[in-house]
Amino acid sequence: MFPYSFSHADGSTKRALLETVAPQVITSGNKISVVGVGMVGMACAFSILTQNVSSEVALVDAIEDKLIGEMLDLQHGSQFMRNAKIRASTDYSITVGSRVCIVTAGVRQREGESRLELVQRNTDILKMIIPQLISYSPNTILLIVTNPVDILTYVAWRISGLPKHRVIGSGTNLDSSRFRFLMSQKLGVAPTSCHAWIIGEHGDSSVAVWSGVNVAGINLQLINPSIGTDDDTDKWIDIHKKVINSAYDIIRLKGYTSWAIGLSVSDLVSAILNNTGNVHAVSVNVTGMHGIAEDVFLSLPAVLGENGITDIIKQQLNNDEVLSLQNSARLLYEVQNKLKF
Ligand SMILES: NC(=O)c1ccc[n+]([C@@H]2O[C@H](COP(=O)([O-])OP(=O)(O)OC[C@H]3O[C@@H](n4cnc5c(N)ncnc54)[C@H](O)[C@@H]3O)[C@@H](O)[C@H]2O)c1
Repeated sequence: MFPYSFSHADGSTKRALLETVAPQVITSGNKISVVGVGMVGMACAFSILTQNVSSEVALVDAIEDKLIGEMLDLQHGSQFMRNAKIRASTDYSITVGSRVCIVTAGVRQREGESRLELVQRNTDILKMIIPQLISYSPNTILLIVTNPVDILTYVAWRISGLPKHRVIGSGTNLDSSRFRFLMSQKLGVAPTSCHAWIIGEHGDSSVAVWSGVNVAGINLQLINPSIGTDDDTDKWIDIHKKVINSAYDIIRLKGYTSWAIGLSVSDLVSAILNNTGNVHAVSVNVTGMHGIAEDVFLSLPAVLGENGITDIIKQQLNNDEVLSLQNSARLLYEVQNKLKF
């Protein structure tokens, strides 16, 4: 029964019903593993399965009862998910051959706690997880979600030994989506037609690229030169403040965040598996970009495909935006340097 097995019993009813012509293939070629079946991991798995991004998902967690409960609950919806193969085990061998391994395991923020305060606890968890994932899927792409995501993506990169284009943090793809939603509310235009980027740290020092905010190519900074500053009577800066406070607000209200990060991760996985070349704000190694000297991961718009990150967009940032990005890099580097891994 556990771990879930696909070697079907060769019973007499089955033999009477089916004339076997060839063995069933159970490897889909689009296998995804999710480590950590908490609120975030399950939202990722649910989004990936219900949006038909992958037809083969392996779940891993340290708590066996919770893991089997989540697996059964998802499997019972198989009829509505094109008979996706969903397996689960505390043993990492179940992840073998994964195209993408999503890491959501770890502790989350408590009310009022910053993402950076989680760092050593979650680093220790990654030290246990990453080598096992790599041993079963040496060609995988690692997608790190656990917070603080930028520092932990760096940690995962160092522990894994993978090339940097195959270690990606979910980064500010979520923050950019939050920003576009709030922008859409302010303008009455759909989020998909609101073009705006939050870059830098997924956290308190994130940078809103006001110089690039546009609808249909109309740059909002040209029609409102004070956009994003305290002088702006339209108070656009408030939506960036709301983005920064989103997680704190939602955690205060419901205890955790889940749905939007699940959808955001599913979007990234879809871009990788389908080799779309879509541009997403994800956490990448930024050394040398925008004058950043430190060896850190921060979000910049990047092109995603089956090889992971293929290109990073050289955004035309203004001086303030570059300085904010450099400040984030210094802040993360200071925390990163104190880590033991
Ligand atoms: N990057 C983002 O945008 C983003 C958004 C939301 C949450 N998060 C982060 O995601 C992480 C998970 O949040 P959550 O709400 O799902 O937490 P949760 O407590 O609900 O789930 C965490 C899961 O990790 C498992 N786990 C812990 N140690 C493990 C180990 N060594 N091996 C395997 N599994 C292990 C736990 O058993 C649990 O099921 C947190 O760090 C949170 O801050 C990131």
